[in-house]
Order: sequence, then C-alpha cells, then structure tokens
Amino acid sequence: MLEKIDELLAEVNRFTSSNKDEIEQFRIRFSGKKGILNDIFAQFKEVANEHKKEVGQKINALKQAVETKFEELKNATASTIIVEKEDLTRPGFPAALGTRHPINLVKNRIIEIFKSIGFAVADGPEIEDDWHNFTALNLPEYHPARDMQDTFFIETNPDVLLRTHTSSVQIRYLEQHQPPVRILSPGRVFRNEAISSRSHCIFHQIEGLYIDENVSFADLKQTIQFFTTELFGKSKIRMRPSYFPFTEPSAEVDVYWGLNSETDYRITKGTGWLEIMGCGMVDPAVLKNVNIDADKYSGYAFGMGIERIVMLLYQMSDIRMFFENDKRMLDQFVSL
Ligand code: PHE
Repeated sequence: MLEKIDELLAEVNRFTSSNKDEIEQFRIRFSGKKGILNDIFAQFKEVANEHKKEVGQKINALKQAVETKFEELKNATASTIIVEKEDLTRPGFPAALGTRHPINLVKNRIIEIFKSIGFAVADGPEIEDDWHNFTALNLPEYHPARDMQDTFFIETNPDVLLRTHTSSVQIRYLEQHQPPVRILSPGRVFRNEAISSRSHCIFHQIEGLYIDENVSFADLKQTIQFFTTELFGKSKIRMRPSYFPFTEPSAEVDVYWGLNSETDYRITKGTGWLEIMGCGMVDPAVLKNVNIDADKYSGYAFGMGIERIVMLLYQMSDIRMFFENDKRMLDQFVSL
C-alpha cells in the first residue's frame, strides 16, 4: 500500500497541464466521489493497527499534494486567460462624450438671443414659498386664478410648494435689486395636472423681466418680435388679450409657424399658429410688494414654455420623448 501511495504521489507531482478540461479530469480522478483518494481511505480501514500511523500520514500527504497541484494549475490557467484577454497594446475604448438635451439646446439659444439685447440670467429655487410663487405676484390666498396653477404642497407645511411658474424669480430678483432690471430666468416648473403618460407635471419655462423708467407695451412687442425672428426666422406674431394677476394689461403671444408637416399640424392644432408665451406690463401692485416706486418705474414680463418650441424646431412628435432618456433619441440633436 505504501508503495502504491508513493507512486501516486509521484504521479501527482509530475502532472502538469494548461488545459482546463485536463485539470478538471485530474481533480475528478483523484478527489471525485469515486476517485482514488476515497478508494484509498476505504482501504485504510484494513491496514493493520501498527502501520496505521505511517500510512495515514502518507495518505494525508497525497491528499495535500492533489489539492495544492489542482489550485496551482487552476490559478495558472486563470491568469493565462487574463493575459490572453487583455492586449495591453490595444487602444482604449472611446469614452462617450454625451450630447446636450434638446431642451437645454433650445434654452441656451434663447438665452443667447436675449443676452444680445442686454438681459442677464437669474435663477431661483424650485421649492418655493407661498409669497414668492403667489401672494407677491398679486395672487392672494383664495384668489380664483390660483386654480389655473394647482401645485404640489407639502402636507405638513402648506407654505412650502413646488413653484408653478418661473414668475417667482421676478419677486426674488426685485427684492434684491433696484431698477433698471433686465433678466431672463430659465428653469423647471411643476403643476399638479392629471398625471398620465401624456401630460407631464414637470415642464420648463423661461421668464423675462424688464423694469426701468418709461418702459412701454411697444417695447414689449418689439422685443418679442425680435426674439421670434431670431429663434424661428419668423416675424409674424399676434397678441391676444389675456389675464394674469401680475400683469396689466396681459396678452398671449402666438407666432405664425406655418403648416408644412404633420408635427406642425399637431402642435399648432391645425392653425399654423404656435402659442409661445404669456406676457404683459408688470402690475403696479407687484412693484409695491417689492418696494419699488410704481410711479417712477414700469416694466414688462413674459413667460414661455420651452417644450412645445423644442418640438416644433426639431419636429419631435411626442412630448414623452423628453423624459424617457432614450440615448438613441438624445444622440440625434445638435445645436441650433
Ligand atoms: N407665469 C405665467 C404662466 O406660467 C406666464 C407669464 C409670465 C405671464 C410673465 C405674464 C408674465 O402661465
């Protein structure tokens, strides 16, 4: 028996291979259920007591040798495979650079246009309080116009809400700055609208505000026309009387976009006119709320939604695409 174990030990020590299957065969032959080691352990019972110690040690040495050999060969093949996989001379994977979101592309273009006529960018928080989002804008509690902009309140503190429009930045800015003021404020706004896959409770707006001495409605109209010509290449606009508590008079602006594609039909509801913004002369009550002399200063404000403008400019058919984050869609846009 001792001789046989010595032979096996020599065999184990001699064995070498870089082939995974062969190594596995080796393991099964020795350590498998019906393998040599189990066989020897079975025979061990019949060994005479006086030899048990010596034989036992030999068997253990064999078992140890099998395990060590197997581990050694297994590790060797594992590292060979890594060397095969990693060709260190191979050029690296190109890092994806990403692209700007179409909403940001259009937003940046709009900012560029207004910057060219002296507007600066200002921003404000998305989590607002009642004063900045409603009350200071001449929308006191229980004012029916609040219903037009139902929002998300925090249950435990009704004074905290998600802003329903970027007009809150008008107040924030005017609390800190005296006229002349000429700002543009882009950002996300939130409304508690029937949440379905078609209508979204998040969208984007850009607010404009201009306060100085002798600002008139003609200045407002001229500025908007300059803007639509720059952005759309279209100067045909119309202003329809409207109502906002913070402007007086108020208007809704439409730009004539035309009807050339199915998307044009859908977004302009078959009229060719795109409603792009609400606007008006800042109500003196708003100026009073921020301690600005309403006899000396006047101004205009406007607020536009970005999504529909983006859809027309890029001929996108579905507003949901903005929020799906499908890289195949997002990769397609280049700056205007
Ligand atoms: N805040 C208005 C809205 O969200 C838009 C607006 C802004 C109207 C500024 C007039 C002046 O509908």
